[in-house]
Amino acid sequence: MKIYFAPLEGITGYIFRNAYEEIYGSVDKYFAPFISPAEKCPITPREKKDITSENNKGINLVPQILTCKSEFFIEASKELQAMGYKEVNLNLGCPSGTVCAKGKGAGFLPETLALQRFLDDIYSYAESEDLKISIKTRLGYYDPDEFYDLVDIFNSVPISELIIHPRIRADFYKGVPRKEYFAYALQHCKCPLVYNGNVYTAQDYDELVSQFDRSLDPVMLGRGLISDPSLADKLKGNTSETDFTKLKKLHDTVYHEYQKIMSPDINVLYKMRELWTYWQTLFGDNSRDIKKLLKAKKYAEYEAIVYGGLLTEH
Ligand SMILES: Cc1cc2nc3c(=O)[nH]c(=O)nc-3n(C[C@H](O)[C@H](O)[C@H](O)COP(=O)(O)O)c2cc1C
Repeated sequence: MKIYFAPLEGITGYIFRNAYEEIYGSVDKYFAPFISPAEKCPITPREKKDITSENNKGINLVPQILTCKSEFFIEASKELQAMGYKEVNLNLGCPSGTVCAKGKGAGFLPETLALQRFLDDIYSYAESEDLKISIKTRLGYYDPDEFYDLVDIFNSVPISELIIHPRIRADFYKGVPRKEYFAYALQHCKCPLVYNGNVYTAQDYDELVSQFDRSLDPVMLGRGLISDPSLADKLKGNTSETDFTKLKKLHDTVYHEYQKIMSPDINVLYKMRELWTYWQTLFGDNSRDIKKLLKAKKYAEYEAIVYGGLLTEH
């Protein structure tokens, strides 16, 4: 089966991707966090650094574009093609207030006429260039029933893969995904589909498979794969246990690589805190240590906790 790593802005940048690929490597495709093209600046130097091939050796990466202007999408695609990319992904799911207020991400979904025109433009460009465009979408903005019209729109263009996160914008990342709408997509969408949302364990995946009565292959994993980096190995049947030796290696690699490009201590520790908010579920009995670790302001404090037991006990 194929496993896709969901884009998680602030987490799955090139440092994390490289560490993950080297230590675990059970992911077939990584989606980079979105780039947001602007007039005369399709991709900023900072965005380029994340997706340049030198920083992504051996990684099957798909860059993602967040925009509601077809000319911006095409300009960014041109730069990405020049960098060697053959597939780009359109973000139609971001729920953030500032993004949606500009009519981008999930904020583009209710503008069905504009969306149709946008898709017509970018797919006619893609066809002339032999470029694949996949889409990552939510069900709608206000109401999940918006999805029925969206499916008709999606069926009118040659989407290489449609990744569906079955929530509406107002759900953000909370609550139970609205799986019945993915079932509708399975029946009515013409293009290949990818399910995304709340797969944290192999059991979650098995339940989805029995609910949809078909194997979900590929499947896209986000928070579940951060929370338990062994999840991809588990779904592929390579192990049934969380591997703490690998987790320690992942931690150490990410921690040291961030130190090379960031300072002072607190900035690196902010990055590590974010990871620990996901990892803490793996360390149920050590919640006091994790609380202390999440407050550490200096490397010495942080390392005393992490290497004084938390990651060395296993
Ligand atoms: C911190 C964070 C950052 C995210 N950044 C992006 C992003 O840049 N592009 C995108 O399409 N989705 C983004 N997402 C959504 C995830 O890719 C994914 O669709 C969502 O987390 C649901 O899948 P999961 O339950 O497997 O995590 C982000 C989600 C989170 C929690």
